[in-house]
Amino acid sequence: MKYIFLNFVLAIGIFGYFFVLPESKIKDQPKDIKQVSTEVKTVARNLSVPWEIAWGPDNKIWIAEQHGLISRIDPLTGKKEILLKLNDVWQLRTTGLLGMALHSDMKKNPYVFLDYTIEKDKKKYSRLVRYTWAKDTLLNAKVLMEIPAALGHNGSRIVVNKGLVYWATGDAMSMVDSQDPKTPNGKILRMNSDGSVPADNPMKGNPVWAWGFRNIQGMVFSNSGQLYTSEHGDTNDDEVNLINKSRNYGWPTVQGFAESVAETSFKGLNSTVDPLKAWTPTIGPAGLDYYSSDKISGLKNSLLLVSLKGKSLRALKLDNEGKKILAEDIYFENKFGRIRDLCVSPAGDIYLATSNRDWNPVAGFPLPEDDRIIKISNLSKSDPQNSLSSMAAGSKAETLYLQYCASCHKENGLGVKGTFPSLQNSQTVVLNPKELIKKVLMGSTGPATINGVTYDSAMPSFAFMKDEDLLDILTYIRSMGSSHAIPIKPELVKQVRSSLNK
Ligand code: HEC
Repeated sequence: MKYIFLNFVLAIGIFGYFFVLPESKIKDQPKDIKQVSTEVKTVARNLSVPWEIAWGPDNKIWIAEQHGLISRIDPLTGKKEILLKLNDVWQLRTTGLLGMALHSDMKKNPYVFLDYTIEKDKKKYSRLVRYTWAKDTLLNAKVLMEIPAALGHNGSRIVVNKGLVYWATGDAMSMVDSQDPKTPNGKILRMNSDGSVPADNPMKGNPVWAWGFRNIQGMVFSNSGQLYTSEHGDTNDDEVNLINKSRNYGWPTVQGFAESVAETSFKGLNSTVDPLKAWTPTIGPAGLDYYSSDKISGLKNSLLLVSLKGKSLRALKLDNEGKKILAEDIYFENKFGRIRDLCVSPAGDIYLATSNRDWNPVAGFPLPEDDRIIKISNLSKSDPQNSLSSMAAGSKAETLYLQYCASCHKENGLGVKGTFPSLQNSQTVVLNPKELIKKVLMGSTGPATINGVTYDSAMPSFAFMKDEDLLDILTYIRSMGSSHAIPIKPELVKQVRSSLNK
């Protein structure tokens, strides 16, 4: 009897140690990031490219799916309720429903702002529209603006701050609009909630607030009222920027930090502003949010950035003034696939929205339950489950290929049918070194037809790349699959480069 009793006490003790103590340890001791373990939970499943998610005044997560569905889910039960189905969305590749924002004071102004692609007289437009929220539906559509759109580069993000609507527009593939403050593309536009222009905008009667952008995919105000964006560069220099009124952010001449002679001597209207941070190789930055909670230790006063190509969540620690990024921590790399957006609840939980059913799928995804919304209620830097990096091993050539080419031509070089050509068994790659070098250095300006298939999206230019890296990549793709073409001679790259510069 005694022994049984003792055993019982012992069992409770052990039980208590495993199930109670670690919890209380976390609560009572000073916060040490190593003791916290990552907590991750899927709260919504089977979505189709949720481009934007937002925490609503009803404590639900509002979702805008790319093909035109607005819904909200209860984060506790996962129950989904449809608010609106748009029936005039034009959706192909990166067009469609691309932005949603709730008014900053939904009690007084129950407005929801949407941005989506439409087609009129065979031309594409991005339409900014305001709906009024009434219980379980959205009513009274009021079109605030319609601006030119293209097959790609349509942004976009919308945020509302102190009653004013900020709309980040893409350059819609124009190489001149971003630097022309009289046109609406490649800009951050600022307007009242009825679409009229506030009196304190930079130019009278003009919604343009800042310019020189290519394709903004994330935008957020910090608690102190500073505006930040994330933006896709071309083949190089993705950026995070701190936005100031009436300033020029450089695209297309200045990419990333102004470093080259062409960049430092560029005289655009109102001299250009350097980004807070730039990434080459690119990471495909998307949704951006500001973290002000104490809940997850170490994240306070950070920008949280999710990425598509980089397939990760990144915490960008800001300085006290919010004018510098002091550190970057990368979480969940390759674990959930492409991540398009995030939102933070008032309690400090982070919600991520995957984008594995979009136009550019990656190896290993979508998973059966994609697209998902994933809740993160704790985050540990040292937790090995955070990272399943597939880029760790491999030769330098393979790493370069994965960094610069695989986002389109895929890890195995087979591309995406009808969108990105296969590099395996390509005549250009194997049989025509001069054409190959030319293609990679110059890219293409318009649609190209390869083996009878026309590719609408362009191959970007890699002229910035060092000869040595270029040669590594070329050798790598020439020996993909069953082909074993000999390495290209360095002199040939020099020769093609100089013939292109003439
Ligand atoms: C943003 C997407 C994208 C990236 C990144 C990209 N490409 Fe391409 N590439 C394309 C598209 C689209 C085409 C087809 C249109 C064309 O040929 O211009 C193409 C065509 C090509 C071709 C011609 C194939 C043929 O059979 O004629 C080669 C070679 C090539 N790419 C190599 C590369 C290499 C090497 C890299 C990395 C350094 C790279 N690409 C990165 C999109 C991309």
